[in-house]
Amino acid sequence: MTHPVEISFTQTDPAGLAGWPGRVAILIGQNGRLPAGLPRPSREAALRALASDAWKGVKPGKSLDLAFPAGLAAEALQLVNLPRDADALTARKAGAAIGAKLGKTDLLVLAGEHPRAAEIALGLALRAYDFSAYKTQKPKEGEGEGDGPAQKRGRVSFMHKDPEALGKAAANGAALAEGVFFTRDLVNEPANVLTTSDFADRLLAMQELGLSVEVLDEDALAKLGMRALLGVGQGSDSPSKVVVMRWNGGKADEAPLALIGKGVVFDSGGISIKPAAGMEEMTMDMGGAGVVAGVMRVLALRRARANVVGVVGLVENMPDGRAQRPGDIVKSMKGDTIEVINTDAEGRLVLADVLWYAQDRFKPAAIVDLATLTGAIIIALGHENAGVFSNDDALADAVLKAAGTEGEGAWRLPLAPAYDKLIDSRLADIKNTGGRPAGSITAAQFLQRFVAEGTPWVHLDIAGVALPPGETAMAPKGATGWGVMTLDRLVRDRFEAKA
Ligand code: BES
Ligand code: MN
Ligand code: ZN
Repeated sequence: MTHPVEISFTQTDPAGLAGWPGRVAILIGQNGRLPAGLPRPSREAALRALASDAWKGVKPGKSLDLAFPAGLAAEALQLVNLPRDADALTARKAGAAIGAKLGKTDLLVLAGEHPRAAEIALGLALRAYDFSAYKTQKPKEGEGEGDGPAQKRGRVSFMHKDPEALGKAAANGAALAEGVFFTRDLVNEPANVLTTSDFADRLLAMQELGLSVEVLDEDALAKLGMRALLGVGQGSDSPSKVVVMRWNGGKADEAPLALIGKGVVFDSGGISIKPAAGMEEMTMDMGGAGVVAGVMRVLALRRARANVVGVVGLVENMPDGRAQRPGDIVKSMKGDTIEVINTDAEGRLVLADVLWYAQDRFKPAAIVDLATLTGAIIIALGHENAGVFSNDDALADAVLKAAGTEGEGAWRLPLAPAYDKLIDSRLADIKNTGGRPAGSITAAQFLQRFVAEGTPWVHLDIAGVALPPGETAMAPKGATGWGVMTLDRLVRDRFEAKA
C-alpha cells in the first residue's frame, strides 16, 4: 500500500538551516516574526515578501514560496501563514499547503513552538499522498536509487521545541493517515486488479493488526438467503463475497457499532448498461466498503477501546448471458421480495442483504452505512458534501458533528414515508428504483426497509465525495478517503470508553 511520508521530529537547531538541501517551510504568525537562524539575505527577502500585496492574499492555512532564497542552500523557502492560536483544521490546511509541494527533495519544517504542530504533520501527510503504483518511470539519475514503481519522496523533518511530545501527539495522526491511504488506494485501484477476491485478500491481511476477518463465499451467502446481493454479481466471473471485520476493543458484553459498506468493484450498470463516457470511474463504486476498511484499520492501529464490526458486500455488476435482467424478482435475506426495474440500481440490492445480515448476527447498538449510491446526490450536493440520511436525530447529529470536527462536508436530507409510494412494486414487495424525482431519498427509503425499527441508523451517500473531479484541501486529485476521519471521530466521541 501507499505509506504516509515518514516524518522525523527533532530539536530546533538553527545551525543546520543554511545548509538544508531541499525545501524549508516556516510558520508566520500574526506578529510576522521570522525564526532564528535565517541568514540575513533570506531574512530580508522574507520580510519584503511579508510586506507585499501578494502576502495580503495569503490567508491562514495558505502559503507563499520564495524561490532559491539567497543565503540558503534550499531551493525554496515556503512562508506559511499560521497564527499561533489557529484551530486544528487551519493547522491541517497549513500542513496540506506544505505537503502539496513535497517533491523528491528533502523538506524541513520549522514548527517552532506551535501548539498545533501535530495537526500540521497530519495535513502534510494527507496532502502528500501519491498513488503511483502504475507509473513505471524510473527516477532520473541522481534522484535516489531503486527501480520500483513508486516515485522516491524526500525526507521530512520537523524542528520543534518539544520533539518528544510532538512525536507522541503525531502518532495518532499517523494511524489516521494510514487508514485514509488504505481507503484511497482501494478506491484508486483499477477493477482488473481490485477484483472481489483481491479486495477480500487485502482485508484478510489486516488480521495481522489484530482484527478478526471472515470471508463468506457464494455458497455461504446462498445458504443465508442473500439473493438480492447474489443477483447483482451473477453476471460477473468474480465471485461475490461478504467480508466481516471485527475490532473488539470495548467491553465484552457491549453491542457493537456496525459499519456497512457498498463494495461494487465495478459498476457497468449490468444489463441496464451505463453510457460509455465516464464509465471508467465506476472502479470507485466500492468506495463505501473502502471507507469501512480504512476505519477498521485506524481502529486497530490505535487500539480503540470500542466494539466495532465492519461488514462489506463485494460484487461486480456486469452484463452477461447469466446476468440479472430488468424485471427479475429476487428474495432478500430479510424475506422481502424486490422487483429489479433497473440493474444499475444495484448498490441498494447489495446493502439490503448486508444490512440485514449485520443486524441479524450482531444486534448492533447503531449502524452507519456508506455507499456511492446515487448520481442524484451529486446533483443535489455536488462534490462538497456527502448526503446524510437517518432514522435517529441524535445519531445523525453525532455524525454531522464528527464530520464538522474533521472538516469533511456532510449535509442531512430527509426521509419520510410519503416517498415510499415511489418504490411500491406492482408485483413484488418493493422495486429498486423510484424514477428521477428525489433519487437519493428513494434509495435511502429503500435501505430503511432493511433496518429494524428502533435501531439507530445513518446512511451516507458518498457518490459525490469519494472521487471528486479535482484536488481537495486534504487530497490530490483522485480518491479522498472521505469518511475515515469522520467515523473514527464518531467512534471516539460516542462509542469509546474514556481511558
Ligand atoms: N454507482 C452508481 C452511483 C454513482 C454515480 C456513483 C456517479 C458515483 C458516481 C449507482 O449504482 C447507480 O448507478 N445509480 C443509479 C440509480 C438509478 C438507476 C436509479 C443512478 O444514480 O443513476
Ligand atoms: Mn449502478
Ligand atoms: Zn453502483
